[in-house]
Amino acid sequence: MDAVERAAALRAHAEETASCTRCALAQGRTQVVYGSGNPNAELVFVGEAPGFHEDQQGVPFVGQAGKLLDKLLAGIDLTRPDVMVLNVLKCRPPGNRDPLPEEIAACEPHLFRQIELIEPKLVATLGNFATKLLSGKPAGITKVHGYEQEVTLGSRSVLLYPLYHPAAALYTPSMLKVLEEDFARIPGLLDRAEEEPDEVEVVATTPEADPQSVQLGLF
Ligand code: URA
Repeated sequence: MDAVERAAALRAHAEETASCTRCALAQGRTQVVYGSGNPNAELVFVGEAPGFHEDQQGVPFVGQAGKLLDKLLAGIDLTRPDVMVLNVLKCRPPGNRDPLPEEIAACEPHLFRQIELIEPKLVATLGNFATKLLSGKPAGITKVHGYEQEVTLGSRSVLLYPLYHPAAALYTPSMLKVLEEDFARIPGLLDRAEEEPDEVEVVATTPEADPQSVQLGLF
């Protein structure tokens, strides 16, 4: 799939997902928060679930944790349009409570399909829920943060990189320091993933449609 096809496929998937009723969270949401960023990103972040502001605006990480995510990205010379930002759950749990196992089970096909379509090199999981789901292992974030691991998602091998959730680091300076240190390794991990392509893909570029600039807008 070339970059323009990928953007179109993701947009079609977003439209399908917008009317999801796979779990009870559909009843309380303002809207599905599909994800936002670059459909052709090599780096995907996966958070937990939309909060109040995300549910209102339809965009992940627009609240306080999102502002910290933007700062952390700026620290490694990246901006939101360079990456894709997704969540385990696409709908806001009431009162921002933790996702329930049955909600994760109902929603995970959406996330796996998104990753299958985007084909990122590096998937950075933010916090416990995304880390446990995508690693397929019970080890918590305190143990595994900052340690990359090779995982198979769908039919592809991807580098998974668990990180603390920015919301957890907001008011804990020691955790913020660790998060910054872990973030600092991302450029090197991307370079490494670049050197070890799991498949060769030829991407045709045309002057009028630069694939890298195709953005997945706000849904
Ligand atoms: N926290 C998350 O995990 N996701 C969001 O979209 C916002 C806050």
